[in-house]
Amino acid sequence: MLFDVVILGAGAAGLMCAIESAKRRKNVLVIEKSKKIGEKIRISGGGRCNFTNINTHHSKFISNNPNFIISSLNQYSQNDFIELVKKYKISFHEKKLGQLFCDGPSQQIIDLLLAECNKYNARIEIDTSVELIKKDKSLYSLKLEDGNLISTKSLVIATGGLSIPKIGATDFGYLVAKQFDLKVIPTKPALVPLIFNDHTLAMCRELSGISIDSSVSFENITFKEDLLFTHRGLSGPSILQISSYWKENSSIIVNINPNIDYYKFLLDKKLSNSQLYIQNILSETIPRRLSSKLCELMEISGKIIEISNKKINEIGSVLNNWKLKPIGTEGYRTAEVTSGGVDTDELSSKTMMSKKHPGLFFIGEVVDVTGHLGGYNFQWAWSSGYVAGQYT
Ligand code: FDA
Repeated sequence: MLFDVVILGAGAAGLMCAIESAKRRKNVLVIEKSKKIGEKIRISGGGRCNFTNINTHHSKFISNNPNFIISSLNQYSQNDFIELVKKYKISFHEKKLGQLFCDGPSQQIIDLLLAECNKYNARIEIDTSVELIKKDKSLYSLKLEDGNLISTKSLVIATGGLSIPKIGATDFGYLVAKQFDLKVIPTKPALVPLIFNDHTLAMCRELSGISIDSSVSFENITFKEDLLFTHRGLSGPSILQISSYWKENSSIIVNINPNIDYYKFLLDKKLSNSQLYIQNILSETIPRRLSSKLCELMEISGKIIEISNKKINEIGSVLNNWKLKPIGTEGYRTAEVTSGGVDTDELSSKTMMSKKHPGLFFIGEVVDVTGHLGGYNFQWAWSSGYVAGQYT
């Protein structure tokens, strides 16, 4: 059977590409390995799908070539997707930092994509696997698991990254890239909680459930968002964000309450209210359980008047400049995304098509483009899917 366009993966990017290709009256087939369509959309944003970010800009993405993203974002921006959401009368709100979430369940976004696929006659086959891909002159032929053979002029790889294998993530896209001799930037889990050695882990466990205002830095990158202690280590938006940049065997710097200069704050307290207990003073700015633990770790107690200025300086350094060395991440099991992927040098930024193999496209998370937390990853899926859909 011959198709104009075959898309592997019925996730955010694949469905967007299917809609756009079918709009152009192409004969489109989407092949999805799992039994469910758009499963990551369904579980995203705590079930409310953070479908884009009003501040989308190429600086919010990590890639070996950050400029690669500009063309896709120019061709299909956050405003274009917002218009589509409005057209389907899906109500939404800005949670914070430009992040747009559905008011209702994420399923609404899946329904929108399926309605558009239906409207333009893009066909979707679920629970179907591809065993073999071959290129015959200008056609790609695919052997399906059930033995059926299909051919297509355009083959779009939208199989996503390695995150959350439990719901169907596979390395299929990277294997196809390698089969066609395209470079793949080594992958790693990103937007993922960090784990620590026994000593720090014990502290995290004791503080599990506490969320604090923080800024977390690695090298010259800083994110100012909440940090969460968990029974496995550290999580929360600031940690997830920095995990995408963190490199093994290096430390991160945590600034607890970045708006407070603790050295100055404690010195002022010593002058103005010298009979206050240090633990009570710290509890004015952080949860009591955390202030007790920090006092224990720094071996401080008693009234502020009894604490030397040198020690106050040390306390300030710990609170505003806390050096912590993760031993790793929680891995693909909980990572929101996979960084690395098909090297953008191999693709045209204007079309998402392989430079070496006309008719072969890669879109979405399988490509070496990773967004920050906050709706940017879906925007990349919509934008890259849209772009490929114009050139299939
Ligand atoms: P995606 O993974 O969505 O789709 C790939 C599809 O291909 C899947 O359906 C898979 O089953 C299928 N597939 C795999 N191998 C195949 C094969 N061999 N043949 C056929 N099909 C195959 N982002 C964001 O912007 N806002 C948010 O709120 C969230 N929230 C969030 C929560 C959680 C828990 C996770 C894990 C991730 C997020 N993300 C997110 C990230 C976002 O989900 C992700 O970036 C996009 O889903 C990527 O879209 P893709 O279409 O590229 O891959």
